[in-house]
Amino acid sequence: MDHEKYSYVEALRWLAQKYDIAIEETATSPEFKAQQLTADSLFIVNQFARDFFSNALLETDEGKAIALSYLKQRGFNEEIIRKFQLGYNPEQRDAFAQAAITAQYNTGLLQKAGLITFRDEQPADNYRGRIIFPIHNQSGKVLGFGARVIKSNDKAPKYINTPENEIYVKSKILYGTYFARHAIDKADECLLVEGYTDVVSLHQAGIENVVASGGTSLTTDQLRLIKKYSTHLTIIYDGDAAGIKAAMRGLDLALEEGLDVRMVLIPDKEDPDSYVNKIGAEAFKAFIQAEKKDFILFQLGIALQEASDDNAKKAVVVNQIAETLSKINKTEEFSKRQDYVRQVSGLLKIEEAGFNELVNKFIREKFTKEESRNIRQTLSPTEPIDEAGTDQLEALLQKDEMQEQAFVRTLIEFGTKSWKENETVADFVFKEMADADLEELIDNRQLVDIILLYRNWYNEGLMPGSKNFLYHDDHAMSSLVIKIMDTQTEISHNWKNHFEGKIATREELYREEVTSTLNYLRLRKIKRLIIENQLELEKTNNPDDQLLYMETHLALKALETKLTSESGMVIYK
Ligand code: CTP
Ligand code: MN
Repeated sequence: MDHEKYSYVEALRWLAQKYDIAIEETATSPEFKAQQLTADSLFIVNQFARDFFSNALLETDEGKAIALSYLKQRGFNEEIIRKFQLGYNPEQRDAFAQAAITAQYNTGLLQKAGLITFRDEQPADNYRGRIIFPIHNQSGKVLGFGARVIKSNDKAPKYINTPENEIYVKSKILYGTYFARHAIDKADECLLVEGYTDVVSLHQAGIENVVASGGTSLTTDQLRLIKKYSTHLTIIYDGDAAGIKAAMRGLDLALEEGLDVRMVLIPDKEDPDSYVNKIGAEAFKAFIQAEKKDFILFQLGIALQEASDDNAKKAVVVNQIAETLSKINKTEEFSKRQDYVRQVSGLLKIEEAGFNELVNKFIREKFTKEESRNIRQTLSPTEPIDEAGTDQLEALLQKDEMQEQAFVRTLIEFGTKSWKENETVADFVFKEMADADLEELIDNRQLVDIILLYRNWYNEGLMPGSKNFLYHDDHAMSSLVIKIMDTQTEISHNWKNHFEGKIATREELYREEVTSTLNYLRLRKIKRLIIENQLELEKTNNPDDQLLYMETHLALKALETKLTSESGMVIYK
């Protein structure tokens, strides 16, 4: 697992394959199996194609004359060409297609792999006359290809890439991970460039901890792939505006993933490949070391330059940088964020406390947005409320009603027992629940009446119990009490596990039952308040009110967390 950064399951699969042991995987649906099968077939056909292209490059006259000479002229040596398994697809319209069909590969599969197309109902090669860059997964299997034109005056696109299929998922792929993974691990730094040729050239120069994004902005999946090996990401991009923009698009995501991002811009319209060829390996390494800049501060520098002396523009910059910093919001990164807050407020010559508050505001906003999305999902489930939905709603209401009943039952059954020295359960409950609370915590009016009657009796010095209710004149009330006292309760699994097999009786646990039934009702109330507060927040545009509602929200959430951790032991079905 450590060596290849595999998950446990991946490591098992790898071992099983290595020692030819069949692993039985449970819970595979037929669709999943079919998908696995296609994936396996794609890997096999890609391996065949890779070998065909490589042979065409290195062993055929056409390949040597057209493609190998081109690569050598660009400065790639044969060792690096072999290492990266580069290839060539001959110019003949169906050179590869014929070879693959002769080798019994299915044309449907070849199309899915992006290797051939059908023209005039005849199979034709997709990458005719192009240099082939195989794209490997972390364990070196070929996921797909990038195919580059050789003649630059061609009207055809510069690169053709494998279409999305079961194994080629662009958003999850970084070119070069297979060759770079150990070096990234060792250097504890991952260099990110744009192009295939950049990766190959830097390797040849002895810089091996490098991968390419393929010219698109980074995705979360790609960032997570990097993070398996290192949390230090250095983005090396062209110094033009497009390069900077492309790099910035990845920044917020990278911060959210907890990566430390630095960047280096390559000057003079060069890219890493051409620049390392121009200045040489050692100078390139020194250049990277010297020019590496903290990305956040770098971004700030650029923005400030643009704003120059315009105060309105400067205010926008302050906001932007605060929002960026708010993405560093994992607890363990608190000190990193504070470091930035200090540095940035210094650079901007603004008061640190005020700037910090602004950053916090963005964190709260993000938090509130997520929270309101969660709540809205709870309030309005995506499926329309059909019959099943109504049932669900009723079940939920019934469950709530059951919780109210459970509380009343606990009071009637255990009210006269000792809570602590000189205090009964009833003393405790009535101290905790004033009249107003009672009505707010319990929806069912009848149940409130039962509690009030109990309280009257108790205050008159009676030791009330269920019997008192059974003979009461109000028949509705007495039959409800009978029903409540008769309810079978089941103790939750959690509770059983807690006691490792010995299941305690309710009599032994009555104090816990009092706490948990009371806390449940309070928790429910807090959840309701959160929703109400949320709706208010969504209605207002006044920043002061917004802040107030957000603070209320945080306070309520803290209360909710406290109650949840206290109770949640005895849960009635
Ligand atoms: N790219 C692509 N499709 C294109 C152009 C570019 O997929 N039509 C991707 C490739 O992964 C390419 C990267 O974007 O490697 C960077 O593009 P570019 O800088 O144009 O190509 P280089 O890799 O630098 O190729 P070369 O040095 O041969 O010009
Ligand atoms: Mn290039």
